[in-house]
Amino acid sequence: MADIILGIESSCDDTSAAVIRDGYLLSNVIASQQVHKDFGGVVPELASRAHEANIVPVVSQALSRAGITPADLTAIAFTRGPGLLGSLLVGTSFAKALGVALDKPIVMVNHLQGHILANFIKQEGAENRQPSFPYLCLLVSGGNSQIVRVDSPLEFEILGQTIDDAVGEAFDKCAKMMGLGYPGGPVIDRLAKLGDPTRFTFAKPHIPGLDYSFSGVKTSLLYFVRDEMAKDPEFMEKNKEDICASFQKTLIDILMDKLVKAARQTGIREITIGGGVSANSGLRQRILEEGKRRRWNTYLPEFKFTTDNAAMIAIAGYFHYLAGERTALDVAPVSRMSDF
Ligand code: KG4
Repeated sequence: MADIILGIESSCDDTSAAVIRDGYLLSNVIASQQVHKDFGGVVPELASRAHEANIVPVVSQALSRAGITPADLTAIAFTRGPGLLGSLLVGTSFAKALGVALDKPIVMVNHLQGHILANFIKQEGAENRQPSFPYLCLLVSGGNSQIVRVDSPLEFEILGQTIDDAVGEAFDKCAKMMGLGYPGGPVIDRLAKLGDPTRFTFAKPHIPGLDYSFSGVKTSLLYFVRDEMAKDPEFMEKNKEDICASFQKTLIDILMDKLVKAARQTGIREITIGGGVSANSGLRQRILEEGKRRRWNTYLPEFKFTTDNAAMIAIAGYFHYLAGERTALDVAPVSRMSDF
């Protein structure tokens, strides 16, 4: 009999539900919350309320698009953390309630593991290239910047991570400061394509090992723009493409330096990326270029699987389910990775 998994994701500001059958995606519904736009960042309380309003219609739509009824489900996978607690509570409580109502098992998933395994989501008629183990995943999002060594679907080790801001935060905070809007990553990405990446230079951190730091480069950009604006109030408007291109290149250089180092140290040539920032066109291009030069096998997830989505939670949950894992009903969400 086929294994049909419903995935539920509610860790930040996207309410998502997806259905996979034996690893093949049947549906993936995402309701992105618009309420945060005016605030320049996610407001946790508003996110929780929007999840509460969205969760039932999103799950219903995922089931109907997949052409199944709730009774057809084998198990329900949900994001337990890390993320915003109030948001996670909605998905976790919903998964528990559905599990009890249908008498089906529930399986908790670590959100990061979902991103790491996004390349394993199979689609009918697609190439479905998958990395072989062990592989390295550069996990870059609004909350994470990590290099992860993945030894099997359920075994992974963080080799390096940010000691301060995540790279997505650097994109978002700098875009906000420059008055470019939120979320900052896509805007900077778009403007960067029109600019000269060699025009300006920003401070790069010197952090030992495989850890990252992005607060210095963020501050470097903020001071630079502030000083130039004091001389010429039009500076930002006149130069925003070059500033974005130079800033984005600096972030990508920082990410790539450590990834290259990790590949060299581990001898691993299977390289994947994941998380919201992996949608960045400059980063994707650099990974492909470096991959060619260094004979890596590179795997870039489709755009729709880079940002938060339940398809990746369903596939991770599927692996946990196959391994015999079931989650007890007294499970509670956790906000931090270290509490998982
Ligand atoms: O994985 P994700 O959806 O959730 C969080 O962990 O928050 O990542 C969101 C992050 C935001 O910081 C956003 O600015 C960034 O991903 N992002 C991008 C791009 N698209 C989204 N950053 C750079 N370039 C992009 N094209």
